Amino acid sequence: MTTKPRRIRKAVFPVAGLGTRFLPATKAMPKEMLTVVDRPVIQHVVDEARAAGIEHFVFVTGRNKGVIEDHFDKQFELERTLAERGKEKELDSLRRDLPGAGQTSFTRQQSANGLGHAVWCARDLVGNEPFALLLPDMLHFSERPCLADMMDAYSETGGNLIGVKAVPEDQTQNYGIVGVEDPSDQVSKIHTMVEKPKRGTAPSNLHITGRYILQPEIFGLLEKQKPGAGNEIQLTDAMLGLLEQSEQTFHAVRFDGDLYDCGSKLGFLMANVAYGLTRDGLGDEFREELKSYIDREGLTG
Ligand code: UTP
Repeated sequence: MTTKPRRIRKAVFPVAGLGTRFLPATKAMPKEMLTVVDRPVIQHVVDEARAAGIEHFVFVTGRNKGVIEDHFDKQFELERTLAERGKEKELDSLRRDLPGAGQTSFTRQQSANGLGHAVWCARDLVGNEPFALLLPDMLHFSERPCLADMMDAYSETGGNLIGVKAVPEDQTQNYGIVGVEDPSDQVSKIHTMVEKPKRGTAPSNLHITGRYILQPEIFGLLEKQKPGAGNEIQLTDAMLGLLEQSEQTFHAVRFDGDLYDCGSKLGFLMANVAYGLTRDGLGDEFREELKSYIDREGLTG
């Protein structure tokens, strides 16, 4: 008899990075609060997690990140003022966006030692249960949220899952890459993984997109993990340890939508275009403005 995999209730959001690619914007403001249209990047990702059924949101923060905690709290003065001015629509939308009382937790990474270290900092808040992990600067743009697809796959496979997407072969050295049994499958068993492989050595062109479902045993490996690429404690190295040293399975789930790396300036600008063009009450006008800009500047070639 096969047992049903344990339910995923919690998601971890590592938001303690320094955001050096976005200086000076990130000198005093977290990069996760940069806005794509009118929502901070972190709100887009929390929306994705809520739509996938997540009930508790764990943020791993650092210095200068206090505003993220404020963002996910009630603003009584603002709400009173909106109510007094009859701005019901804005009020409703603020209330809708907010996780409920007691559904958020915050811990500090203290020093930015890498993604693996940030995830390890969430160990006590996650406890002994499987959890989702979402990298807030990676926006997954699709009709159905990426994490929801991964939850469906998890109910079949159990174990650990990693969201992946193909990149051109000559770019694999910039990413975490997985090797799978059948690259053409939507969900395929992973047999190896490597963070930023040297040119020509990648096991495939499938890169890790920043969405994971992980079993709590990962914390034990992260605790002992030595620094890897970039002298940072790498999550990919600990996941490889779990794959090699335990009975646990890892599956790759292909993401077919569009991916925007909002930690890079180009990705961030393109995310604003994509989300702006599909936003109700804005998209049509934005499209017209963009078209006339492109014509005026002669950008159509
Ligand atoms: P990145 O490497 O993209 O973020 O990490 P960064 O280090 O802030 O960016 P740059 O290169 O300096 O511009 C991916 C995610 O992991 C978090 C980041 O906040 C980001 O959301 N992170 C990274 C941590 O929480 N702690 C770390 O030590 C590193």
